[in-house]
Amino acid sequence: MDCDTGIDDALALVYLCSQPHVELVAVTSTPGNVDADQVARNNLALLELCQRPEVPVAIGARAPLGIPLVTTPETHGPQGIGYAELPAPSRSPEGRDAVELWIEAARARPGELTALLTAPLTNFALALRAEPRLPELLRGVVIMGGAYFYQGNTTPTAEWNTHVDPHAAAEVFRAFAGQPEGRLPIACALETTERIELRPEHIAALAEAAGCAEPELVDPEQAAGWRSRASNPLVRHLSDMLRFYFEFHRDYDQGYVAHVHDYFAASVAAGTAAYSTRTATVHVETDAPRLLGTTIADYRGLWGEPPNARIVASNRPKEAFDELVAAVGALGRRIARGRPEALASPLG
Ligand code: RIB
Ligand code: CA
Repeated sequence: MDCDTGIDDALALVYLCSQPHVELVAVTSTPGNVDADQVARNNLALLELCQRPEVPVAIGARAPLGIPLVTTPETHGPQGIGYAELPAPSRSPEGRDAVELWIEAARARPGELTALLTAPLTNFALALRAEPRLPELLRGVVIMGGAYFYQGNTTPTAEWNTHVDPHAAAEVFRAFAGQPEGRLPIACALETTERIELRPEHIAALAEAAGCAEPELVDPEQAAGWRSRASNPLVRHLSDMLRFYFEFHRDYDQGYVAHVHDYFAASVAAGTAAYSTRTATVHVETDAPRLLGTTIADYRGLWGEPPNARIVASNRPKEAFDELVAAVGALGRRIARGRPEALASPLG
């Protein structure tokens, strides 16, 4: 998983930790929501919270390929995890560069690994430059990013991840041109990820599933600076993160909700999501200043260029939240008992 943790990245990482059938090979940290060092600290702290200290965390690039880094503390908080105050991690990031780690893992396990990318595509673009066979070496690629015939969330036409590093996004999609359909990256873009709209009642359900005795109410009427008192540490920290995200979405007239884009992408990568895709040729704008990072999909072959992506065309929000609450709630219970590892399903 390559992420710019960030609140919805955090939820995605916790979700992967809740899936017994998912082997989390590595978590690599790309600058985006916050800087790369803070992303790595968040990833280390979250893995310790989920009692998964064995998963390596690495840093690669510290800035986009071709433009200066822009972060968004107003969206995810100064440390990228909203109001949560996670215990400082006891581990440090790997000394190895994230890009080397990517390539080493893919070469060692050809056809086995799925790349989940919920950040600007800087590290993945660098990995493709260093190992052009990556599309053949990986089992699959899932990208959270872009917006197709749908308004952006960063500029009127561009989504955050492709806007932070438009050159990397352009290189990644170009690198997959001509690959067989089954190897094309699955793109989870705003027109479907904004349908995964987490609300306070989902946090209440999560707390109940995690065995909290007290109801977990996140309410806009609560005093500013209110913090969760949930007995379960996982619920407490997620509640404090998501409260910040609710306030951000409300401040941008989207209601007291949280679009958990990266969780949806993680569920696609984990094979637990219901969704459909449409094959397309994707272009990412890297020149026109007003359109920087804008993603355009040619679904009809009008450009006469080979497809390079499978764009998610539909998903099922209710099922997505039923899955999230059940899985992360169960993880919360296990953590409370000090047994984070669920018994891997007999199917392996
Ligand atoms: O536009 C949403 C994406 O940008 C998500 O990955 C979110 O974490 C931010 O990185
Ligand atoms: Ca992200």
